[in-house]
Amino acid sequence: MALRAAAVAALVVVVWAGVASAAVYEVGDKTGWTIMGNPDYAAWASSKKFHLGDTVVFTYNKQFHDVLAVSEADYKNCNASKPTATWSTGNDSVVLNTTGHHYFLCGFPGHCAAGQKVDIRVASSSAAPSESPSAAPSPTPSGGTTAAPSPHPNAAPKALSASSVAATVAASLLSLAAAVLA
Ligand SMILES: *[C@@H]1O[C@H](CO)[C@@H](O)[C@H](O)[C@H]1NC(C)=O
Ligand SMILES: *[C@@H]1O[C@H](CO)[C@@H](O)[C@H](O)[C@H]1NC(C)=O
Ligand SMILES: *[C@@H]1O[C@H](CO)[C@@H](O)[C@H](O)[C@H]1NC(C)=O
Repeated sequence: MALRAAAVAALVVVVWAGVASAAVYEVGDKTGWTIMGNPDYAAWASSKKFHLGDTVVFTYNKQFHDVLAVSEADYKNCNASKPTATWSTGNDSVVLNTTGHHYFLCGFPGHCAAGQKVDIRVASSSAAPSESPSAAPSPTPSGGTTAAPSPHPNAAPKALSASSVAATVAASLLSLAAAVLA
């Protein structure tokens, strides 16, 4: 009974941690998406660690800017003639739902060449083994008790993508569950 409850609690925590790890980033932070002041979007992107399911928000004056998703070659050449997707509301949320590079630029003449372009790389979800909450309870079967149920098989990848804060919280709650079991 207690084992079952602990396993359910652990699963809930792990799923919650997976949800909590879906971060929202404003491109350029407070500066937004612009050419004013020559923001360094490469520096901005390299200061973050993007994960699958995260969202990037482009905030800008739509009279002067837009957002185009482009190929790597078009990104390098600032070629806006064949975007794979276009946004132009001035407040555009883009969900990063594939791993690898996501290339964006402003399609207004000269803006990309002036630096209004960003390469957002989403890390493979199998990375970051150090963030694994390894504090999972491993109760030693005493007497006739059966072995503890192993965590949900889907739990591990979600936990791996969790932020370290979420992982820490999950780990402490898991040890709490372990304490209850003992
Ligand atoms: C932009 O790309 C299009 C098609 O992909 C190509 O025809 C055109 O020459 C390119 N323009 C520049 C300036 O590279
Ligand atoms: C942008 O859109 C989000 C919802 O998609 C909203 O919460 C936010 O207030 C909007 N920001 C601006 C500046 O309009
Ligand atoms: C990925 O995101 C794009 C744009 O945000 C959306 O159109 C597309 O349906 C999404 N794909 C999946 C598999 O969720």
